[in-house]
Amino acid sequence: MNIKELVSQMTLEEKAAMCSGNDFWHTEPVARLGIPRTMVSDGPHGLRKQPEECDGDHLGLNGAIEAVCFPAACATACSFDRDMMYDMGQILGKECQAEKVSVLLGPAVNIKRSPLCGRNFEYLSEDPYVAGELSAAYINGVQSQNIGTSIKHFAANNQETARMSASSNANERTLREIYLPAFETAVKKAQPWTVMCSYNQINGEYASQNHWLLTEVLRDEWGFEGYVMSDWGAVRDRVKGIAAGMDLEMPGSNGVNDQAIIQAVQSGALSEEDLNASVERILNIVFRYEKGKEVGGSVFDREKDYEKALEIAKKCIVLLKNEGVLPLKKEEKVAFIGGFAETPRYQGGGSSHIHAHKVTSALSMASEYGDIRYAKGFPADADRTEPVLFEEAMKTAKDADKVVVFAGLPDIFESEGYDRIHMQLPECQNVLIEKLLELGKPMIVVLHNGSPVELPWADRVQGIVEAYLCGEAVGEAEMEILYGRVNPSGKLAETFPKRLEDNPSYLNFAGKSKDVDYSEGVFVGYRYYDSKDMEVLFPFGYGLSYTTFAYGNLQIEKKSESGRDGINVSVDVTNTGEMAGKEIVQLYVADHTQSAIRPIQELRQFASVWLEAGETKKVVMELDERAFSWYDETQHDWYAADGVYEIRVGRSSRDIELTAEVILTDGKEKKPVIDANVMLGDLLDYSGTKKYVEQNLVQYLDGFTGGKAIDECDEMEKSMIYYMPLSSLRSFSNMTNEKIDEIVKELNALL
Ligand code: BGC
Repeated sequence: MNIKELVSQMTLEEKAAMCSGNDFWHTEPVARLGIPRTMVSDGPHGLRKQPEECDGDHLGLNGAIEAVCFPAACATACSFDRDMMYDMGQILGKECQAEKVSVLLGPAVNIKRSPLCGRNFEYLSEDPYVAGELSAAYINGVQSQNIGTSIKHFAANNQETARMSASSNANERTLREIYLPAFETAVKKAQPWTVMCSYNQINGEYASQNHWLLTEVLRDEWGFEGYVMSDWGAVRDRVKGIAAGMDLEMPGSNGVNDQAIIQAVQSGALSEEDLNASVERILNIVFRYEKGKEVGGSVFDREKDYEKALEIAKKCIVLLKNEGVLPLKKEEKVAFIGGFAETPRYQGGGSSHIHAHKVTSALSMASEYGDIRYAKGFPADADRTEPVLFEEAMKTAKDADKVVVFAGLPDIFESEGYDRIHMQLPECQNVLIEKLLELGKPMIVVLHNGSPVELPWADRVQGIVEAYLCGEAVGEAEMEILYGRVNPSGKLAETFPKRLEDNPSYLNFAGKSKDVDYSEGVFVGYRYYDSKDMEVLFPFGYGLSYTTFAYGNLQIEKKSESGRDGINVSVDVTNTGEMAGKEIVQLYVADHTQSAIRPIQELRQFASVWLEAGETKKVVMELDERAFSWYDETQHDWYAADGVYEIRVGRSSRDIELTAEVILTDGKEKKPVIDANVMLGDLLDYSGTKKYVEQNLVQYLDGFTGGKAIDECDEMEKSMIYYMPLSSLRSFSNMTNEKIDEIVKELNALL
C-alpha cells in the first residue's frame, strides 16, 4: 500500500475527517478507498476496552470488557526490571491482538514532581532515566506483537489540578533534563507508534498546538516517525494544532474542527501539505496494524495472564523495614487486621481503571498459610472510625504472636482528575495502628497506595511492606512475600519524604493560578533531597531483601582515552545471606567539574542480578557521554565539561558502597554567546577568544590590571575582570559604542 498515493486520492473533506476520531475509540474509515476503522483503548496496566454497546468515556466510568489488571506503574517501576516490562508489554500486546485493539494508550511516563499528584499511581518515577528505560522496554514488548502504543502525556503534565488549562512553566534546562528525557529515550529506543500530547500548556502554549514540542523536539531532533494524538478533549486551536504536528484529535469535535481545517486550507491559512503529512502519518499506523493483525487464532486467556500478573507483582513489592519479624512462619499465630486484607486496593481510578476478571486478597489465600485470624478494624474504602471494628481488632490482635495491618489509601483519596491535599493515611488507620502498638506485639504494616504517605509510627513497627497498587494478583503476591516463599526485591522509584513540606515543589504545586512555576528546576525528588542532605523517610532506590548483598571490585574501563565514547563500569555482587534473591544495583554519577549548578548525583544506570546464597556475579553497566552531561541553554545542547566525575555504585541513593573517579577530556568547548554584554570571563574561558582579550582588550583594563598582563593579576583583580561585561568598559576606559560594535563583530568571527 502506497500511503502517499492513497492520500492523493482523498478529498479535502476526507482528509480533514481523518484527523479526528470516528467515535470515542476509533479512527475514521473511508470505505471507498478501503481505509478501515481501527480501535484504540486504554492501558496502561491492562486492557480497558469499551465494547460498542457501552457509552465511551475517558474516566473509566462506564463498562469495559473483563480483563487482567497488572500492577500499576507505581509498582512496576520498583522492579527496575527491563525484561519484566518487556514481558508485560508483550502479554498486553497479545491481549490487544485477541481483542482487535490496534493501539494501547500507554505507557504514562510523567515525572512525579510532587507526591500529591492524583495520577502518580499511573506514572513510573521521579527519575527520568528509570521512567525512560522501563517505558522503552514496555513499548518494545507491546509493539513486538504488532500493536501500537501511545506514550503519554507529552509533556510536563505533573498535576491533575486544572490539568486541562494550567501552564507548566519551566526553563528549557529543566524540561530537557527532567520532564522530556523519558519520552526521548522511549522514542529513540522503541519508536512508539503514537505519542499522546497532554492537556496542559507548556510555558504558555498548549501541548496540542506546540510546534516546538511536537515538531522541532519530537520529530526533528528525536526522529519520531509515528503520529501524535491528543489527550481526550485536549484540542484548543485545531488549525494551529495541525501546523504544529498534532495529527489526530481524540475523540473528535462533532465535525466542528473538520470544517475549521477545510476552511483554513481553502483560505490558505493552513498549508495542504501540513494536512497531508498528518493524514499520511495516521494512515501509516492504521495500515501497519492492518498488516500485522492476527486473523483468528489469538485468544485472551485471562487465567494464564493472571499467572503473569502474579509473577510481575512479586517482583514489584518493596520491603521497607524488617527488624527480624519477616518472613512469617506457618507455626506462628498471626492476626490480619484492616479492610485491605479482604478488599485490597490494587489499581487507581480514572481512565486506566481495568474491569478485573478476578482479584485475590491476602485473606483469600490464608488457608494455605497456617494460623491466621482476621479482623477488619477499618474499612478499605473510606476514612471511617467504627468502634466495634476497633474493639474486635484489638481482641484478635491480643491473642496473636504477630500482627499484620493491611493499610492504604482508599480509592477516593487519589485518582485521575484531582490531586491529594495531604500525604496522610486515613486517620482511622493511624489511630488503630497506635492502639495496636500498645499491645507490644511485633507488628508489620502492608501498604496499598499509589504515592508516598506519611508514616508517623514507622519507627515503632517492626516491619513495613509497600505493595503499592499491585494488580489483581496482589493478595497472592503479598502472601508469598510475607511468608518468605518469595524474596522481596523491589526498590523505591521515588523518595518518601518525612513530611510533605520537605518536597521541593511544595511551595509551587497545583495552586489556584493557571501558571504553575517549576521553580525548583532540575532539583526534583532525590536530586533535591540528596543535594540538601535532608533526612527522608525512605530514600530513592531503597528496598530490603531477606538476604544481604556485598559489593566489591569496582572497575572502570574507558572505551577511548577521552572517556567520551562510552565507559564500562563493573562491580562484583555477592549474596552473603542464606536465601537466593535479586539485587538491584544502582549507578549514580556526580559531576565535580563545577561547570554548572547540578544535583549532587544522578542515577545513570541500573541492573538487576539474581544470586543464589553465597554466589558472586559480575555486573557490567555501560555509560555514554550523555550520562555525564547537563543541558546548556546557551548552546541548546548537552554538555559535559572536561574534568573529574565520580562514579557511585550502591544499593540506593543513600547507600553508596563503592566510588571511583573518571576523567573526561577532549570535550567540545562551550562557545560564549557574544554581544555587547558578554562577560570578559566567558571570552577568557573559550580558547578561540582568549587571546583576543589578552591582546586587544587588555589596554582598556589598565584600571584593574595596573598595566600587568591578565595572567599576572592577583585573584581580586582577576575576578573583577572576569565578571566585567564588555559594555562596562565604556565607564572604565575610553571605549566607544562604535568600538564595542566592532569588537563584538570581530569576536563573533572567531567562534
Ligand atoms: C486521560 C488519558 C486517557 C484518555 C482516554 C484522558 O482523560 O488523560 O490518559 O488515555 O482519557 O481514556
